[in-house]
Amino acid sequence: MKRTLTTLFAAMLGAALFGQVKVAVHENAQDQPVIPKEIYGQFAEHLGRCIYDGIWVGKDSPIPNVDGYRKDLVDAIRELKVPVLRWPGGCFADEYHWRDGIGPLSERPKMINSNWGGTIEDNSFGTHEFLNFCEMLGIEPYISGNVGSGSVEELAKWVEYMTAKGGTLAELRAKNGRVEPWKVKYIGVGNESWGCGGNMTPEFYSDQYKRYATYCRNFDGNRLYKVASGASDYDYNWTKVLMKNVRNDISGLSLHYYTVDWGKKGSATEFTDEDYYNVLGKAVEIDEVIRNHEAIMDLYDPKHRIDLLLDEWGTWFDVEPGTNPGHLFQQNTMRDAMVAALTLDIFNKHTARLKMANIAQMVNVLQAMILTKGSEVVLTPTYHVFRMYNVHQDATSVPVAFQCDSLASTSGRLYPVLSVSASKSDAIHVSLSNPSVTDSKTVELEFDALKPSKVSGEILVGKGKGMDAVKSHNDFGGKNVVSPAAFKDFKTSGRVIKVTLPPASVVVLEIN
Ligand code: AHR
Repeated sequence: MKRTLTTLFAAMLGAALFGQVKVAVHENAQDQPVIPKEIYGQFAEHLGRCIYDGIWVGKDSPIPNVDGYRKDLVDAIRELKVPVLRWPGGCFADEYHWRDGIGPLSERPKMINSNWGGTIEDNSFGTHEFLNFCEMLGIEPYISGNVGSGSVEELAKWVEYMTAKGGTLAELRAKNGRVEPWKVKYIGVGNESWGCGGNMTPEFYSDQYKRYATYCRNFDGNRLYKVASGASDYDYNWTKVLMKNVRNDISGLSLHYYTVDWGKKGSATEFTDEDYYNVLGKAVEIDEVIRNHEAIMDLYDPKHRIDLLLDEWGTWFDVEPGTNPGHLFQQNTMRDAMVAALTLDIFNKHTARLKMANIAQMVNVLQAMILTKGSEVVLTPTYHVFRMYNVHQDATSVPVAFQCDSLASTSGRLYPVLSVSASKSDAIHVSLSNPSVTDSKTVELEFDALKPSKVSGEILVGKGKGMDAVKSHNDFGGKNVVSPAAFKDFKTSGRVIKVTLPPASVVVLEIN
């Protein structure tokens, strides 16, 4: 496989490709926005083993658990500081009837999860189990409501059940073990309503949105943030029609973008360098897709009253051999870590309109943080990137400037030769990624005025060299080959930190 350099970019390459890259870090820039912590959000669907085996094993399980939630997962998720969690779907949400998931376990009906492998769903994880999980971990819940096959009344009553202090539904909630209402801020009015959520046109959905949203009430001081089901990828018409038709009673419009080639998803662990660069190119295309949706939103909403929420994103590969094709269980390599790092660097710079993003999904599905098998747990390279990057949550954005050259993969997708983002809280944090499979990269970070006195760092890199390193992943049986290590390959001199990034590495520096 040959890597081609587009002539368009050949002239620009020079320093960034073959020598040192100079990155100006403007730590003194004034009036910079805050990076909303919610862009580090997650998604958990009743799909495969995300909920059952992943989050929930039940109180009587031999697997160590905290009130039914597996303990290893609770500990790992706590470390990530997950700000918001979307549930119960996805496509599942539009077939979910919340009353099936409350009350005594023995009385909860069973349903067929027709979106995801026809698995029997016994509803043992329902509203209480989800909201208590969020409460225990300090996570903001994001409820995805059923518009496709549920009624306006059903959604309205769900909101009342969760958030009202008095009335018959509050009494029922108390009878089921919860007296005080929960705080629920985010409510999604349908999911992928153009597809599995009802195959609607944007015009029809706009009217449906208004009906359903009207009856989602604010009870007893709980204030809802209502999210309209948004476009997929490049469907700019959906965004346009929604923005034109829905002007009130809406706080956010969603968008879904997966790093996938639907014609040939490919293996999560066996791939060539060209596959790797194609995937990175597809991942960073999210920047342009976000910008295009934002531009449409700007036309109809110049005052930014409505946020953009990327409430599903991540890599989508073939399922692991021998697993249920409907369960979307895939391994996770340094390639996924690189996708996560490049994408989060992009989100860190889209603070004006992009206010939330939810990676798909938290455990055992698609680009998961965590994989489980029986009592074993694996933290994926993606998990480590999210842990390393959580320093950017709610920090003030720090602009960085450098000539960001791009290379083209054989399929013509452009990927950057370097990715950087920075923020300021109690310290300055700079995240840097070198996507190259073969070449190290030397980066000079030059600050406006700061002469760093104390610098430390962490690095995530695969094992071995070249593609072996990129394909590195953690696996069951204690095969833990990718985990962050202390990073020391930098030198400080005056206002400059000179950093050497090995091939296919992700580094986060803490600078005082
Ligand atoms: O995350 C898996 C599925 O992808 C979700 O259920 C759906 O919304 C999307 O198509």
